[in-house]
Amino acid sequence: MNLIDGKAIAGRINEETGRKVALMKKHGITPGLAVVLVGEDPPSVAYVRNKDRISQQLGLYSRRIELDQSTTQKELLAVVDRLNADPDVHGILVQSPPPPQIDESEIVKALNPAKDVDGLHPLNVAKLAMGDPTALVPCTPLGCQKLLVESGITIEGKHAVILGRSMLVGKSLALLLMRKGQHGDATVTVAHSRSLNLTKILLSADIIISAIGKAGYLRGEQVREGAVVLDVGTSRVEDPSTRSGYRLAGDVAFDEVAAKAQAITPVPGGVGPMTIAMLMVNTVAACQNQTGFSV
Ligand SMILES: NC(=O)c1ccc[n+]([C@@H]2O[C@H](COP(=O)([O-])OP(=O)(O)OC[C@H]3O[C@@H](n4cnc5c(N)ncnc54)[C@H](OP(=O)(O)O)[C@@H]3O)[C@@H](O)[C@H]2O)c1
Repeated sequence: MNLIDGKAIAGRINEETGRKVALMKKHGITPGLAVVLVGEDPPSVAYVRNKDRISQQLGLYSRRIELDQSTTQKELLAVVDRLNADPDVHGILVQSPPPPQIDESEIVKALNPAKDVDGLHPLNVAKLAMGDPTALVPCTPLGCQKLLVESGITIEGKHAVILGRSMLVGKSLALLLMRKGQHGDATVTVAHSRSLNLTKILLSADIIISAIGKAGYLRGEQVREGAVVLDVGTSRVEDPSTRSGYRLAGDVAFDEVAAKAQAITPVPGGVGPMTIAMLMVNTVAACQNQTGFSV
């Protein structure tokens, strides 16, 4: 079994991004990222802090906007409008999930598509579906694809089974892996909570990517010998032995599946760091598109 070290791969990508940012800054251009958090959902607070910390480390201009839990749709739309118009901000991410009074899809539609660094605006989704290479692609799917490529795993012609059909992960990843060329060309099956014969489907997979958010759900007997397994899931499970009282767990029953897999990502330290690395990559790309200056 080969452990795919997402932290190390993300570290190398971040170094490259940092070098690009330094070069752009020499020419008076600083890529800027705004991350908007509404409310105090603990995992979201941690993600937003991490994104802010890493963008600062890489030399980007980072703006963290923290809004009250009671923020209205109208107030949030006004924040998005201001960021859309702000020339210092090239990428905008509104952390998901927002509180229930917020209609997330309307917020996404209000983003300037050129600044939509999580790739969820309908224009970017359509571009991805059409195989247009100028699409801004959601960070987690992009990170999964990059992990496979950087680990020397061939995607072309393989049967990739994706568990989960959210726009943020499963559906976008399916579009990405089935794209013609561009590290795609996989045969993709997307499974979800209504899928029948899931074990049979999984046993025919060369690559399994699980994004459902149920700790330890994927068992060893559902994975064929030699498959590649990426674990996107992150659930907080109680663990009194830790200082916080919880630990992060993936969707995959790690020891069982690792015994059969050719390669596998851990949680934490697999897909998570790649999501942030790809957010930085997308922000730099968005800045280059908006300023017409590329390195
Ligand atoms: N590491 C990272 O950077 C990162 C980034 C994003 C998300 N995540 C994690 O990835 C997980 C998924 O996130 P998400 O936003 O995509 O979640 P989501 O919107 O809740 O979607 C979950 C998907 O899983 C499917 N599902 C649920 N139970 C299933 C089952 N028993 N068998 C097959 N499919 C099942 C659901 O099916 P239905 O559509 O039928 O309901 C749904 O499509 C979460 O744990 C999240 O925290 C991690």
